[in-house]
Amino acid sequence: MTPASSPVERVDVTSELITGISELTTNDPERQRLNNAALVIENGSVAWVGPSAKAPSADTKTDVDGCSVLPGWVDSHSHMVFAGDRTAEFEARLAGQKYAAGGIHSTVEATRAASDDQLTTNLLRLRREAVNDGTTWMETKTGYGLDVEHELRSARIASEVVDDVTFLGAHVVPRGMDADDYVALVIGPMLSAVRPYVTWMDVFAERGAFDEEQSRAVLAAGAAAGLGLRVHGNQLGTGPGVKLAVEFGAASVDHCNHLDASDIDALANSDVVATLLPACDLCTREPFAPARQLIDAGVTVALASNCNPGTSYTTSMAFAVTTAVLQMGLTVDEAIWAATKGGAMALGRAEGPDAIGSLVVGARADLQVIAAPSVTHFAYRPGVRLTEAVWKMGIRV
Ligand code: NIG
Repeated sequence: MTPASSPVERVDVTSELITGISELTTNDPERQRLNNAALVIENGSVAWVGPSAKAPSADTKTDVDGCSVLPGWVDSHSHMVFAGDRTAEFEARLAGQKYAAGGIHSTVEATRAASDDQLTTNLLRLRREAVNDGTTWMETKTGYGLDVEHELRSARIASEVVDDVTFLGAHVVPRGMDADDYVALVIGPMLSAVRPYVTWMDVFAERGAFDEEQSRAVLAAGAAAGLGLRVHGNQLGTGPGVKLAVEFGAASVDHCNHLDASDIDALANSDVVATLLPACDLCTREPFAPARQLIDAGVTVALASNCNPGTSYTTSMAFAVTTAVLQMGLTVDEAIWAATKGGAMALGRAEGPDAIGSLVVGARADLQVIAAPSVTHFAYRPGVRLTEAVWKMGIRV
């Protein structure tokens, strides 16, 4: 394949045939992987999928020459509006110190001190890294501002760069502030200020962050403001996160490292997606989330990067997939699905005309080409970057 010179080169083209696909992952339950396949993109959407031999003609043709094609990764959990570095904290963890929510404060200080340009440049750098690794949809959260001015700035900058923005004013109580006063600020003036820039509201419902009652107030305010809900839950110990997510009908509860049987049962009887963050589990040395048990119980599982400077400084969704297969007991198909369609479900974007996370007719043509004959190579060749090319909404980027 020849590299694209710029994303604008196809501007007059309305349809493109991608052929020579060794294996095409569609996320269509009827035909998850197709061999010797082709796909037609028309006006940004998938218009046709099937065997190469039966492919219709199109305005242009790209032969991927035995590579595989799959949906672009849908990264449904990250914290990428930040400044500063936490290498020292990471080294302390390598020496045996446990991760605690308090590390967030040092990023808050650095983020407040940074200029808009510095924050935007860092966010663009991380987005570039993610796209090169095959990510075509990115959510990111505020949460390193923690006052009205800086949460608003984070939300605005995020909305200029990523696809979905989540308000996480309730990340941790700022130093020197009373927790209940801070919750009142989050659900009052802060929420009103960020509202035009965000679609989701999140809360870190964890010891050292927000207790059950405070988390409930945050979620209720988010719902009342018409935002979709997400919860950071059960990351550092058992707690109310999962049950709150179920009670409030959140789209997703994220982390899920410490679950008891009743949590799994509650998730299995709900539509809440359990978003698992394998890179974070490794970097904080928390036990892996019980991915196999969750899937076996019928819970919808998503995988995400959790890119942030404290617990998971990686944008690589491929790494999450590889780890989920090699360490958490998922099959390759389950892990790929969780990092694509699962992420789309966690963001409420898996259905409808602009659906992401699958390559079925009518879905957005967000896809990646990998230099491998099959997606099994994500596990078979750990640590090797396989993504060769990425199309977002039908345009090669
Ligand atoms: O998802 N758990 C809370 N928030 C982040 C970590 C934030 C930080 O330590 O900077 C997470 O892991």
